[in-house]
Amino acid sequence: GHVVVLAGGLSYEREVSQRSGRRVTEALRALDVPVELRDADATLLDSLVNDPPDAVFPVLHGAAGEDGSIRDVLELLDVPYVGARPDACRVAWDKPTAKSVVRRAGLNTPESVALPKEVFHDLGASSVLEQIVNRLGLPLFVKPTRGGSALGASPVHEAAELSAAMVGCFAYGDAALVERYVEGTEVSVSVIEIGGEPRALPAVEIVAPGGRYDYTARYDAGDTEFITPARLSPQAAERATAAAVTAHRALGLRDLSRTDLIVDADDEVHFLEVNVAPGMTETSLLPRAVSVAGLDLGHLCQSLLLNHLP
Ligand code: DAL
Ligand code: MG
Repeated sequence: GHVVVLAGGLSYEREVSQRSGRRVTEALRALDVPVELRDADATLLDSLVNDPPDAVFPVLHGAAGEDGSIRDVLELLDVPYVGARPDACRVAWDKPTAKSVVRRAGLNTPESVALPKEVFHDLGASSVLEQIVNRLGLPLFVKPTRGGSALGASPVHEAAELSAAMVGCFAYGDAALVERYVEGTEVSVSVIEIGGEPRALPAVEIVAPGGRYDYTARYDAGDTEFITPARLSPQAAERATAAAVTAHRALGLRDLSRTDLIVDADDEVHFLEVNVAPGMTETSLLPRAVSVAGLDLGHLCQSLLLNHLP
């Protein structure tokens, strides 16, 4: 038998996914796990049918990778895979939906407005933007309702910047999420499940150049400083890890997830989003948390695969 690491795909995060896929593949190979790294391309279906793997480890980021559709295919073919089921992915991938679920589970999440591109254009951009600023105040943060790696995302400090931020956002998605910008410490908490119970890894603090953890700051080694464990009070650290586990459970996720949070000056934790296929690149957050926790990425990936092997 063999396992397949699925990476690449056609989303905007294709290149990131290829890097994640290589990292996971190498980590598993180092443990002599028979592993094939595959692109999610037109030949995928045939190869899954003709040479079914024991399990798949999807490391596909972005649409089709994180919206559940590739996992629908794996369900259809009855191929076991690591990570959340399709339904849970659909909910987690849509940021406004995920925010409403975690809010019902008791977490704070910044107040926001979601706006489809058509509405923005039909209602006349300026009147909509004025209403948004009146309702949410400033500063704001604009991002695609569905997306990753900060593509199409930008902060808005003055009302005059909002229009350009929306246009930048619509380049990457057909709906925008406009959120109140919460000042504080940016942290990310990974959750892993080995043998059933979700367990949070230490929070990783992100100190990006100029406070902007954008695409370059994410993937150019050395641009961003990561501090693990994050410089939080014991109370805030406890709240952050608990919030990630709450989000993982409330959204019905499985095996692994990574929740991105802001911790404000009052130690309140604010949920931003959760990732069902967290980045696994050399600069990504989950692998960093894994090593700080004294774990090995290969062993973790192997254990997650074993969750799905007889
Ligand atoms: N969307 C990227 C891969 C991440 O969350 O790590
Ligand atoms: Mg994300």
